[in-house]
Amino acid sequence: MVNEYEIKKQICDIGRRIYNRNMVAANDGNISVKLNDNEFLCTPTGVSKGFMTPEFICKVDGKGNVIQANPGFKPSSEIKMHMRVYEKRPDVGSVVHAHPIYATSFAIAGIPLTQPIMPEAVIALGCVPIAKYGTPSTMEIPDNLEKYLPYFDAVLLENHGALTWSTDLNAAYMKMESVEFYAQLLYQSKLLGGHSVGLIRGASGIDARLSDAAERLIQPTESGAHQVPARLPDATRAFTRGF
Ligand code: 13P
Repeated sequence: MVNEYEIKKQICDIGRRIYNRNMVAANDGNISVKLNDNEFLCTPTGVSKGFMTPEFICKVDGKGNVIQANPGFKPSSEIKMHMRVYEKRPDVGSVVHAHPIYATSFAIAGIPLTQPIMPEAVIALGCVPIAKYGTPSTMEIPDNLEKYLPYFDAVLLENHGALTWSTDLNAAYMKMESVEFYAQLLYQSKLLGGHSVGLIRGASGIDARLSDAAERLIQPTESGAHQVPARLPDATRAFTRGF
């Protein structure tokens, strides 16, 4: 049995973490968690996600309609975006939206994170595409996002921010950390120049080696320790395919 109050507290903790790590400004960002097919918890609209208490958290159904919200609180204006992820990815238990500085800079510049700069980024994320711009709170965002959902666990939202999803809240948040770390490393290594960053684009030896490393690392072991969802190889292959 899910302890709803505990999950509300965890959402507040993650909100604080996102705010304290400068992944959002002011009232930006939103978080949701799936309780079951018909019940989801989500952050309220228009509050700082760094200063929430469990009473702030709203409950919605599978279409984003309010099931429960305390006076003064309404579900996130981006709840439709979250619900589309749950609809298309039944394995997902949590969705996190933030505006981290480096990842959002790439989203504004229109540059997807497609360079396999290090094995950890390849394993955690594969590449991170950019979903075409949509007006916040409209169906444009979920509609533009949809084609990436089967293959990726993170996307940049053009001129907007980043969205990550995973099996549970902590894992979805960790994906957001990884996206931002990856974007920052890519930005700084581009500033430094050198041959490596330039080599990576296209079907270079580095692409192939990192993709191979990823494929080997994600093979299931006898204990299943390295087993990951089948879509990850797709995301890593997207490097060489030039998504
Ligand atoms: P909400 O406060 O409505 O969740 O919106 C914040 C945001 O970041 C919109 O993109």
